[in-house]
Amino acid sequence: MNMNMVEIIDKKRMGKELTNDEILYFVENYTAGEIPDYQAAALLMAICINGMTEEEIFSLTMAMAGSGEKLDLRDIADNVVDKHSTGGVGDKVTLIISPILASLGVPIAKMSGRGLGITGGTVDKLQAIPAYRTDISVEEFKKNVKEIGISLISQTMDLAPADKKIYALRDSIAAVQSIPLIASSIMSKKIAGGSNCLVMDVTYGSGAFMKNKFQAKRLADTMKKIWRGENRKITCVISKMEQPLGYSVGNTLEVIEAVQALHGQMAEDLQEVVLTMCVQMLKLAGRTQTENELKNQIWGAIHSGRAFEKFAELARRQGADASYLYDLNKFEKAPMIVPLISEKNGYVQELNAEKVGKISIDLGAGRKKKEDEIDRRVGIILCKKIGDKVEEGETLGFIHANSSDKIEEHIEELKLAYKIVANPVQKESVVDEIL
Ligand code: URA
Repeated sequence: MNMNMVEIIDKKRMGKELTNDEILYFVENYTAGEIPDYQAAALLMAICINGMTEEEIFSLTMAMAGSGEKLDLRDIADNVVDKHSTGGVGDKVTLIISPILASLGVPIAKMSGRGLGITGGTVDKLQAIPAYRTDISVEEFKKNVKEIGISLISQTMDLAPADKKIYALRDSIAAVQSIPLIASSIMSKKIAGGSNCLVMDVTYGSGAFMKNKFQAKRLADTMKKIWRGENRKITCVISKMEQPLGYSVGNTLEVIEAVQALHGQMAEDLQEVVLTMCVQMLKLAGRTQTENELKNQIWGAIHSGRAFEKFAELARRQGADASYLYDLNKFEKAPMIVPLISEKNGYVQELNAEKVGKISIDLGAGRKKKEDEIDRRVGIILCKKIGDKVEEGETLGFIHANSSDKIEEHIEELKLAYKIVANPVQKESVVDEIL
């Protein structure tokens, strides 16, 4: 294609609609290294500012999905169900629902990402299980799904390489917050991943990319149009991410919480998201029972120990030392564990997810730059959540740190994340809508 990148940028700068060929030209040539970062950055920023039409978003998604290998999982089952969250703090839902569903006979073939900004990533959590390999081959991935019904890996294969490159650039030029760019980024990876059913957890609030429900619904709507355009089945769960999900934030701490959840002990908000996502995934997989019957099946998988055993089987299959999952005390602890003590009586009105996410990054649980090493031991345990009653002298939470250097600062920041008021606070449900 003989096109001029300056003209493409200029067209988008003027708010005009790009053609499919122009978008394909940009994606193919940027991925191949023929278009410099500064021109790609200019176009992405123009998209951020001026938006895209539905046709443009579809073209961008398909161009990115087609930039590498595309998996076909139809030989595994008629319905292979994937799930994805648009991001959150303390979100360990994949670790919990994947083995539950696999133990109920729904094949789970899932590729996950690393943490992005303050939002944690499933790959970093899986790697907190000693020796767990997220980088197995496509063949091994498919073999595991066929033989044990589950595989959870990272996006190491050549899937949607254009997204990898474009995402890294967006991250460095403040061009992440854009519905067309987020929708096409997520959907290109999911289309290349090969599942025909998808349940999206579209989060909004202080700990999410979308800051309000209106934006979350627009993002959900955009993703649904793309996925349905491909003749695949999708459900979007709109959920709040005002406070971290569950009681822990940080990789090892979240694996421990996930194992406890698989034994039936779950924080209320985590349980609500787990049950909702599982029910929606079972429905897309073709289960026709009522929601109550499906919930009974989910609790059956948990209480019988089958869901936990499936998680341990997955860990063993992917090279991990599963003994850690049977004896959670074996996980290495952070050297400094410091409590935050409440200075007043009252009720928790706010527990700001963004602030907690920032502390966890600063502790080393996530990356500030993409090449940073993370410390899997560190993080935050939250003992009190929104609506809980608190007494003076009670512990609100713990900071798990690898040194004493900034511990006082982190405790102070955690204190600021909590707002405690005198009057009782109503606990609200996390799941807002199912679309
Ligand atoms: N997750 C993605 O994969 N891409 C985005 O752009 C945002 C969140």
